[in-house]
Amino acid sequence: MTIQPPQEPASGVSTSRMSGQPPAGGPDAPRVRLAVKAEALVKQYRGRAGTVDAVRGVDLMVAAGEVFGFLGPNGAGKSTTVRMLTTLMSITSGTARVAGIDVMAEPDAVRRCIGVALQEAGLDPRQTGRELLVLQARLFGSSRAQAATRAQELLELLDLVDAADRRVKGYSGGMKRRLDLASALVHEPEVLFLDEPTTGLDPASRLTVWEEVRRINARGTTIFLTTQYLEEADQLCDRLAIIDGGLIVLEGTPAQLKTELRLRLGSDTDPTLDEVFLDATGRTRQRLAGEVQQVSA
Ligand SMILES: Nc1ncnc2c1ncn2[C@@H]1O[C@H](COP(=O)(O)OP(=O)(O)OP(=O)(O)O)[C@@H](O)[C@H]1O
Ligand SMILES: [Mg+2]
Repeated sequence: MTIQPPQEPASGVSTSRMSGQPPAGGPDAPRVRLAVKAEALVKQYRGRAGTVDAVRGVDLMVAAGEVFGFLGPNGAGKSTTVRMLTTLMSITSGTARVAGIDVMAEPDAVRRCIGVALQEAGLDPRQTGRELLVLQARLFGSSRAQAATRAQELLELLDLVDAADRRVKGYSGGMKRRLDLASALVHEPEVLFLDEPTTGLDPASRLTVWEEVRRINARGTTIFLTTQYLEEADQLCDRLAIIDGGLIVLEGTPAQLKTELRLRLGSDTDPTLDEVFLDATGRTRQRLAGEVQQVSA
């Protein structure tokens, strides 16, 4: 689906400030419900070794219904931002609302509306996949019968039926990621956060996850996804933001960002999204090779 940058008529924050587009506000601007709104979000990690400024003032607006991509090199602040938005980590300063709810004021209410699959899957290796999904569904208030039905649906959706009654410790990395994704979907969340959902997956499994993300999105769930794969962002995301050194350096639709760079470079053909990424983060191809990968699934 194609979505215009979200605007909130009441807000002075522009999501298009980095993309060279004027903010399209005004009385006729469509009112878009925001799934995520972050303003001046900051995270400092303080430890004995000193302070790390991981996120240094991030503004984000994600419209309900979007697939939003959050890209950036290693250490840019993607996972830190996701952890703050999903109530898993304290916010040093700034504000965030998810599904319209203030993350700091009402973390429990936010948790009921979201699903999260983190970069490091936190699965209990002693459980079977089915047990894990049933437990999740029960925790969200389903009856025993409803939980069993939902677990079976998700096992089918994520192609895990054959492994359903084996312990998670015997699963491959890709199977664990798919199970983690299934567990984030148990309660049909309004907003789904996926931190690098396809890292380490083989091409077939990556395609399964892409299809699943599209299907979940088509059913109305907003997706906030971080990825190291530019092709993935290009294929899946309605809009994306690139973060570097804790700051957003670029945002827009993939097509918009490519067109802007083409016009700026004066070339005849659109650049690829990896060229946009390189340009925005000032990285060279050699450095990119070790950080962000371009893949085709
Ligand atoms: N618990 C922590 N304590 C101290 N510093 C941290 C902690 N977690 C992350 N950092 C630092 O914060 C910065 C942002 O890290 P973050 O994990 O958010 O990056 P990322 O964009 O998700 O990177 P990657 O692509 O490698 O997953 C990095 O400099 C990282 O070293
Ligand atoms: Mg990360």
